[in-house]
Amino acid sequence: MRGRLIALEGIDGCGKSTQARLLAQWIGEPNVALTSEPGATSLGMRLRQLLLDSASPGVSARAEALLIAADRADHVSEVIAPALADGRWVVSDRYSGSTLAYQGYGRGLDLDTLRQLVTFATGGLEADLNVLVDVPLEVARARLKRADADRFERLDESFHQRVRDGYTTIAASDPRWVVVDGTGTVDEVAKQVSAAISERLGPLPASAR
Ligand code: TYD
Repeated sequence: MRGRLIALEGIDGCGKSTQARLLAQWIGEPNVALTSEPGATSLGMRLRQLLLDSASPGVSARAEALLIAADRADHVSEVIAPALADGRWVVSDRYSGSTLAYQGYGRGLDLDTLRQLVTFATGGLEADLNVLVDVPLEVARARLKRADADRFERLDESFHQRVRDGYTTIAASDPRWVVVDGTGTVDEVAKQVSAAISERLGPLPASAR
């Protein structure tokens, strides 16, 4: 049986990477693959450098979208699709929703065009469930505070506010999204995430528990 694809989404500093790791532990080896975007493949690692290097700010919005699409195309064909075909559940720290939120709502690229680009890159593979770990900007900023901010983290507050609002809008209009309040402790948020998975996706893969 094909596995399920779960995407963790949210603004930088929302805590989704921690939650992705805990969710993968909760689902349990060997039935789960934990992965992330951008940069999960060898091409992806090189694209990630181009995308995030704060010393190279000269990437246009469309080029950025295309680089991210290239990263995702390889991510799907090399990592996600094989794991799903194996019957494993895949937990991805970011997936297509990030492109709609960041390149669409953040950068202002046309959403319908981005949806087509995402479909082209993924071959139409959609997440079975997208979990938005939602926190206000101030909370995310406080968690992020570090000197080596990447090209996205250096963008101004209004960019990140648009991304957050964009995520909320997407989640409200698509039944494959669930919103979790990310302001609690790590454990509180993890409980909400696992409850949402059980409710929406049913029992975990066979031998997991
Ligand atoms: P991420 O790896 O979550 O950041 P970090 O390693 O610092 O936790 O994501 C890197 C950045 O890439 C993030 O700021 C958002 C951006 N991004 C997009 O703009 N669009 C996308 O489709 C994806 C997958 C990421």
